[in-house]
Amino acid sequence: MFERLERLPDDPILGLMAAFREDESPDKVDLGVGVYRNARGETPVLEAVRRAERIVLERQATKTYVAPAGNAAFNQAMERLAFGAGHPALAAGRVRTIQGVGGCGALRLGAELVHAASPRSVVHVSSPTWANHVPLLTGCGLQLESYPYYDPVTGGVRIDAMLQALEALPSASVVLLHASCHNPTGADLSEEQWRGILAVIRRRGLLPFIDMAYQGLGAGVDADAFAVRLFAAELPELLVAVSCSKNFGLYRERAGTLHILTESASRSQAALSQEVRIARRLYSMPPDHGAAIVSQILADEALRDLWQRELGDMRERLVGLRRELVRRLNAACPTRDFGFIAAQRGMFSFLGASAQQVRALRTDHHLYMTEDGRINVAGLRAENLESFTRAVAQVLR
Ligand SMILES: Cc1ncc(COP(=O)(O)O)c(C=O)c1O
Repeated sequence: MFERLERLPDDPILGLMAAFREDESPDKVDLGVGVYRNARGETPVLEAVRRAERIVLERQATKTYVAPAGNAAFNQAMERLAFGAGHPALAAGRVRTIQGVGGCGALRLGAELVHAASPRSVVHVSSPTWANHVPLLTGCGLQLESYPYYDPVTGGVRIDAMLQALEALPSASVVLLHASCHNPTGADLSEEQWRGILAVIRRRGLLPFIDMAYQGLGAGVDADAFAVRLFAAELPELLVAVSCSKNFGLYRERAGTLHILTESASRSQAALSQEVRIARRLYSMPPDHGAAIVSQILADEALRDLWQRELGDMRERLVGLRRELVRRLNAACPTRDFGFIAAQRGMFSFLGASAQQVRALRTDHHLYMTEDGRINVAGLRAENLESFTRAVAQVLR
């Protein structure tokens, strides 16, 4: 049977990682992979996670299955984190949550639910969007289209073109939106722009599907959830996929949630029952370790404070790096203005390099980034900022 299978090319990001590993230059810098790195270039286990993990291991009395919907304490804590404790939609029982296998699993569960409700649905994603949105959302049979988003001239959002495109969508179209720290561009929506989008979504009867993979890494835990909270207060239906990979540093533990909001508690319960069936069909039960850690952190005031401080340090490091990068790049390339990098948020920005320039940065300067010129700002540190700036100035000149 398997002789029919052809070998597929490596995923571009995995190919990039392999090329980076093989590069023997001491000057090599990895700006490709989307994980946070500290000033020493490490992705350490957060101290809040270490402490919570000890408590979880001490108290855990069984390894029996959780449930298809996951760890109930985790799901509830994540609802409060995303929507804000006391949100009217939570109080009304209109939000139901299923644990995902990371944010990717949550996105896929959301897509499966849309497919179960309306198999011919079209999901509209930003141009550009995170590459993995495509297989995650289309894998169960949904169609994908895109709306204008990034403006390479200003480094901001083409809000007028975006609103116009959304205005022209048929009702019940699904619109995927990044809550904060847009991947791959770093260009986020302002509160005023979110309000404009809300108005179009309401007028056109669209279904917003918010991907929140970086809560707390942009402007803050509450500020990054602005759209989730606004939409949940104003709209009849909403899907939110949340990842704990970056903000809790739990990547390999695969913790995340899908929150389903409908018009009424009974409809949300019906939708959740469908999700439970979908999860049973796909993988039966999610893993518990990451969820147990997050729920321990969020339930314990001291651990929660510690986590908030560690998350704040990550956020401030990104903001500081962005400012420093703009200062250095503007000084090295006086004919260009890189100010947009400081206005953007999260880990990613586009340098504005062509595919050829990206290749030159890799082969001549050992700087590794994705073909589209996306850099992970967190890959930079005091030791490589100078050489990075020099190389970029030379190649982009
Ligand atoms: C935009 C976006 N959504 C979702 C995810 C999901 O992450 P995970 O499945 O690792 O939790 C990521 C991770 O890189 C992301 O960048």
